[in-house]
Amino acid sequence: MTTRTPLMAGNWKMNLDWKQGLALVEELGEQLKEVDTSLVETVVLPPFVDLRTVQVAVDAGKLPIAYGAQDLSAHESGAYTGEVSGSMLKALGCTYVAVGHSERRQYHGEDEQVTGAKVKAAFAAGLIPILCVGEPLEERQAGRHVEHTLAQLEGGIDGLNAEQAKQIVIAYEPVWAIGTGEVATPEDAQEVCSAIRGALRSLHGDEVADAVRVLYGGSVKSSNVAELMTKQDVDGALVGGASLKAEEFAKIVGYQG
Ligand code: PGA
Repeated sequence: MTTRTPLMAGNWKMNLDWKQGLALVEELGEQLKEVDTSLVETVVLPPFVDLRTVQVAVDAGKLPIAYGAQDLSAHESGAYTGEVSGSMLKALGCTYVAVGHSERRQYHGEDEQVTGAKVKAAFAAGLIPILCVGEPLEERQAGRHVEHTLAQLEGGIDGLNAEQAKQIVIAYEPVWAIGTGEVATPEDAQEVCSAIRGALRSLHGDEVADAVRVLYGGSVKSSNVAELMTKQDVDGALVGGASLKAEEFAKIVGYQG
């Protein structure tokens, strides 16, 4: 059980064009009428090209949904063809931005230096980064999952001041659990989420460690979220596949019943 406000974030990945994204966000708004949204923060992370549409829909419907992007450039502006800056996202009303998702690390070679720079770029633009960390299967099998994850955490938050560290969201996503249907056990999730909070405590002290929301991600569904959320250091979920259906994602947000 957490005393922090739980956060459920839907990572749409490279799914849904703007029309489909509009339909999903409007349907989610409808479904959330059945949920006490004062208890949980609801966030969606659509593709860049859907963000303007999501902004208009959320504003027009006064929907209880915050939103953000799945990535941002480490640079402020200039000759970086194909990239999108934090200030551009801020201008679209984004609150959050994911940084260092395992698919960015795996397919785009993003290492700790890149994720660290992107976390700083997010703060510089007034966005809250959701820093994703987590081990691949070999590291888990070798018993190095905590060590691996904490190295990614430390690289990602290096150089932050306490005020920034307090606001960051960390998502623990074991790579072997992402998109595989193989959810981590609540005990596995708790082990690493608590190690993350412990590392934050030694780096930044109690106030920061007690404030930061640590999410679990990897095959979260409405049928397994409540059990994960009973764990002391699990403050929410980063949800891929199950966030693409409004009814299912609303059930995840409403896990408290
Ligand atoms: P999944 O993805 O819920 O489809 O496993 C989680 C993620 O990659 O954030």
